[in-house]
Amino acid sequence: MILAANLKTNHTRQSVRHWLGDVESFMGREEITDTVAVFPPATALTAWCGKVAVGAQNAYPVANGSFTGEIGLDQLDEFGCKTILIGHSERRHVLGESNGLIRRKYDFFKEKGFTVYFCIGEPLAVKEQGFDAVMDYVKEQLVGIDTGYANLILAYEPVWAIGTGLTAEPSDIEKVHGAIKALCDKPLLYGGSVKPANAGAILKTPGVDGLLIGTASWKSNMFCDILSTAKSL
Ligand code: PGA
Repeated sequence: MILAANLKTNHTRQSVRHWLGDVESFMGREEITDTVAVFPPATALTAWCGKVAVGAQNAYPVANGSFTGEIGLDQLDEFGCKTILIGHSERRHVLGESNGLIRRKYDFFKEKGFTVYFCIGEPLAVKEQGFDAVMDYVKEQLVGIDTGYANLILAYEPVWAIGTGLTAEPSDIEKVHGAIKALCDKPLLYGGSVKPANAGAILKTPGVDGLLIGTASWKSNMFCDILSTAKSL
């Protein structure tokens, strides 16, 4: 399974080091062999040689240049970072990234060989129109994305479930994941208010290959609880 932690705009360089230390020692002690990744804020990127892959939450699709406030490939290379999150709903809906920009990011980092965690998922208004509308929306997000890329990991994250405490029902997750997998046979994570109490049921859902966890990953012990659940299945 694949378990990924999205720290968003939380933690500092120092606290990320503590987080990584906690998670790495837990993984060693409990012999966790799942794939684990963490996306810290850009200021806390770190050259890490442990079991946890340290990835970028975002980067602009250039090596360097005049893009005030952004980081590019050179800044990621400094830390040996080869993993990136692209298309997260907060980048799409809070920061206004278009499918076009997201495609450019995907193409750029794919070409550089990055492992790309690519997020898709519908807002509430689309969910309310039913399953076909959800799938149309998700398909649109995948237009122009090379889903044959070997290092692509997809994450289905319904926007209405992110950071809200609302989680999709396992039966809904199964239905959407089944339809996405019919389009593209890649590892497919679920994300949206995953926590220790619901992680087991979601991980047992057919078509779920792992989790992308926000809020419940910010405390290392909660994230480790979810790693334990994954191991016990
Ligand atoms: P959440 O965030 O677990 O806090 O809902 C998930 C995500 O944004 O990836």
